[in-house]
Amino acid sequence: MKPLSTDEIRQSYLDFFESKGHACIPGASLVPENDPTVLFTTAGMHPLVPYLMGEKHPSGNRLVDVQKCVRTGDIDEVGDASHLTMFEMLGNWSLGDYFKKEAIAWSYEFLTEVLQIPKDMLAVTCFQGDNDAPRDDEAAGFWKSMGIPEERIGFLPKAKNWWGPAGQTGPCGPDTEMFYWVGEGSPLGNPATHDAQWLEIWNDVFMQYNKNADGTFTPLKQQNVDTGMGLERVAKVLQGVETVYETDRFKPIVDLVVSLTDHSTQLPARHVRIIVDHLKAATFVIADGVKPSNVDQGYVLRRIIRRAIRSARQIGIPFEGGFTPLIAGEVIAQYGHIYGNLKTNAKDIRDVLSHEEQQFLKTLQEGMKQFQKITGTLKSNTIAGQDAFHLYDTYGFPIELTKEIAAEHGFAVDEKGFAKSFEAHQDLSRKGAEQKFKGGLADHSAETTKLHTATHLLNAALHTVLGQHISQKGSNITAERLRFDFNHPDKMTPEQISEVERLVNEAIAADLPVSYHVTTVDGAKKEGAIGVFGERYGSEVKVYVMGDFSREICGGPHVSRTGVLGSFKIQKEESSSAGVRRIKAIVSGGPAEVEVAGEDLLSSDGV
Ligand code: ALA
Repeated sequence: MKPLSTDEIRQSYLDFFESKGHACIPGASLVPENDPTVLFTTAGMHPLVPYLMGEKHPSGNRLVDVQKCVRTGDIDEVGDASHLTMFEMLGNWSLGDYFKKEAIAWSYEFLTEVLQIPKDMLAVTCFQGDNDAPRDDEAAGFWKSMGIPEERIGFLPKAKNWWGPAGQTGPCGPDTEMFYWVGEGSPLGNPATHDAQWLEIWNDVFMQYNKNADGTFTPLKQQNVDTGMGLERVAKVLQGVETVYETDRFKPIVDLVVSLTDHSTQLPARHVRIIVDHLKAATFVIADGVKPSNVDQGYVLRRIIRRAIRSARQIGIPFEGGFTPLIAGEVIAQYGHIYGNLKTNAKDIRDVLSHEEQQFLKTLQEGMKQFQKITGTLKSNTIAGQDAFHLYDTYGFPIELTKEIAAEHGFAVDEKGFAKSFEAHQDLSRKGAEQKFKGGLADHSAETTKLHTATHLLNAALHTVLGQHISQKGSNITAERLRFDFNHPDKMTPEQISEVERLVNEAIAADLPVSYHVTTVDGAKKEGAIGVFGERYGSEVKVYVMGDFSREICGGPHVSRTGVLGSFKIQKEESSSAGVRRIKAIVSGGPAEVEVAGEDLLSSDGV
């Protein structure tokens, strides 16, 4: 029998859980909305946190989907046989509906009947128990009743058999994980006894606790099930190949990369894998609206694109702007029928990649000139740590790149010396930050602080002009401009835009005092503060008050008086995504130095 393709596995999962009463919902963007605590969506449950906490989901209390995920913690491992930067997670959820018994029975049915995995190739683990929650004999009992023998059931501690929360706080709980035998010969024991020979393919989390900011666990309002199955791993298992890179959707991308080399030597698999994985992830991330930059998601994107190009360089693939778009084209060909935004953004994806490739080439060329200068005057064959640091600091050469190029030219690098220079520099910048902090600005510049305050005034003005339905969908501030995303069905009219500008400038001209006080989320709601209440705020929040004009939950910092913003101008109002508008705006004419707003002790709770 022909093994199931990746597309067939994905579809059978969705179909199977639909047949068990689950509503199939669309996966979310890789860029989490309204969640400043993480850069990327890391699990299928991530966009569902409000519903796991008790919010009603419009599609009901049984859900199934496929969610693209990026785990930045795994980037350095990529190149081995199993780690991926981006992967697809199949997941089904019970929001306070079914619990352990059904979850386990359906997992077993899907694995053994739909995917037809022989039952003796499977093993499971359950939570071993500790002070926070008891040993999960219940889950183990359900597995036994399915016919899983005792020797295939392992018990492991929290580090292994507990999942979540996705951020610092939130829903979490004990889990039971399912494994496939990848060792030699017949299966032995279980993952608690033979860890390396069992590959995890699926995780059923019994989310019944909330982790609080103080590290304690309290039972959730409802008992949920959150599951996650790694599509690529399951494809590898079913297709009987050694690595995910040999599965049906990866293979054509790998082949394309290999075809670009001159085949003169045995190719190091690591570099091919890094290229395929990183450019696949980059393609998806760009399709979700991220551009390479030096901060946040953009920085991760830049890092993976450049790391892919470095690997290309290592195996002799030329890059002058056309290499990365070519690979992206194959990624789009393999996944565009499932992820439509790859197709609609295909041109953008190619342009962004091409531009970044050319930028990196320029950086390399300039750095190479410097490299030759350094090595031209070298008395030994070791490049000094300070020089390697200069290449890093001024030319953006990661130490690995300097080492690679040095080795190609027969030089070594004083890595210890590099580490010393690196630390010394960090000390300096830390001192610099402390210096600034004394001036009251922490590491936020005057410009970003002003724009942050302007964002609050804008949000308040939008509430007045467009209505109280306005809620922040995203905010991004650079030293040059603010960017604010909010829900609103229509394009703003020129009149609405100028009215918003007028209100904000009026608030600036009134030179309103700005201060904050600390209160509870409920307290903030009661006093009419705006905020994204679906977010996972801690138990205490800061509310920034700008005269009578604005009252908003926020971490700060802000300027101490609105007058220093000078004048406010909206540069652009455009669509960001369906039902979401985006405003870009600037402030100008204010002073270069500003004071930051302090706590208003009189209105603080408990002071
Ligand atoms: N959220 C769980 C995981 O990521 C299912 O493994």
